Amino acid sequence: MPEQVTLTIDEREVSVPEDTTILKAAEQLGIKIPTNCYHDYLTANGLCRLCVVEVEGARVLPASCVAKVSDGMVVHTQTERVRKSRRTILEMLASTLDLSESPDLQEYIQEYNADPDRYPMAEKRQPEVIDDNPMYIRDYAKCVLCWRCVQICATDAQYTFALNFRNRGFHTQVTTYFQKPLTESTCVFCGQCVSVCPSGALKPKREWLVEQGYSPEEVMELTRPQRSKRTLTGQQNQEMNR
Ligand code: SF4
Ligand code: FES
Repeated sequence: MPEQVTLTIDEREVSVPEDTTILKAAEQLGIKIPTNCYHDYLTANGLCRLCVVEVEGARVLPASCVAKVSDGMVVHTQTERVRKSRRTILEMLASTLDLSESPDLQEYIQEYNADPDRYPMAEKRQPEVIDDNPMYIRDYAKCVLCWRCVQICATDAQYTFALNFRNRGFHTQVTTYFQKPLTESTCVFCGQCVSVCPSGALKPKREWLVEQGYSPEEVMELTRPQRSKRTLTGQQNQEMNR
């Protein structure tokens, strides 16, 4: 059994098991810390840093979704330094990405008085929409690189490993292995990645086609399942083995 520790968050005491994150301890007090990459049912990787807090005595602002509590810890979730960090992250995201379908981030932009035009010279990430299968599209101009889709496709749920990252820094993008179309990847079209995507980067193809103005008939035609290359190869193998 993990031991109980007592800490203070925003001047209020709380006792929680020692392996609790600061984010979860704050939740017990009803204190909401903004998150972006974090998801309750997925492995937290501390990628976006939107959830940073100030811990007395600590040099840097830890990401509360991964930083664990300790006895006697004193945490502040709304100092000017914290708010400025969150604001800057939001402004950097807004300057390079299309956040029009990220409702949580839109809300935080208001709450933290972030200026989406703060970096007018910033380069926009505008890759083409990838429409390579009948089930869902990938619009990485909206991708906030939260890693949720990669995580749920891998060991958090599906063990399919169809998705991963390529490139680094500004050019980082979620992709399939060797950038193959999804129909040629290990993807089983379970839809779990779409369900955890917070930004509209992954979207059911029918929804996307309706938004593009296609009629119901056209939508049905364009999303009719095709036999995949793997299925055809299997049939061919059977024929060859007869
Ligand atoms: S596609 Fe969606 S779930 Fe995947 S990393 Fe981008 S924003 Fe996150
Ligand atoms: S929500 Fe904690 S680092 Fe992204």
